[in-house]
Amino acid sequence: MKPTRILFVCLGNICRSPLAEGVMRAVAERAGHVNAILVDSAGTGDWHVGDPPDRRSIAIARAYGIDIANFRGRQVAAADFDAFDMILGMDGRNVCDLRERMPAAAHKVHLFMKYAMDRDDDVPDPYYETEEAFERLYQMLEAGCSSLLAKLGRAS
Ligand code: 4NP
Repeated sequence: MKPTRILFVCLGNICRSPLAEGVMRAVAERAGHVNAILVDSAGTGDWHVGDPPDRRSIAIARAYGIDIANFRGRQVAAADFDAFDMILGMDGRNVCDLRERMPAAAHKVHLFMKYAMDRDDDVPDPYYETEEAFERLYQMLEAGCSSLLAKLGRAS
């Protein structure tokens, strides 16, 4: 069966979405379903193109056995709206920006926590926050990604 292609999107592609990418892959690996998905991440902004993830995202991923140190930031491109089956924004602003950029693909764009867990919650931007915010971020992403994987399993 063809894998479901998932793009996680945040503002900078250095804090939330690279961690979501790493967590989603890890959750699928643990469940023995890594071949069921193809995951990537990108930012709506271009400030961090080519940069590694924020050191706090690298550290919290590492603490849970996930290596995202080699990821590099990139900006969402027009081709992504064809290349992915679902494009999951971390917060409402990401979702608005994505739908504005490609109105014809608006049906592929969803708020991550709403789509994954039916919870109308943003994944808050932790960039100006403390290390504890990255622990909360990890827990939120782990819960969301586990729920997303279960949802994909039910749909197949
Ligand atoms: P992210 O966090 O969207 O989760 O990657 C941010 C990273 C950088 C900036 C904002 C948010 N920035 O303004 O540079």
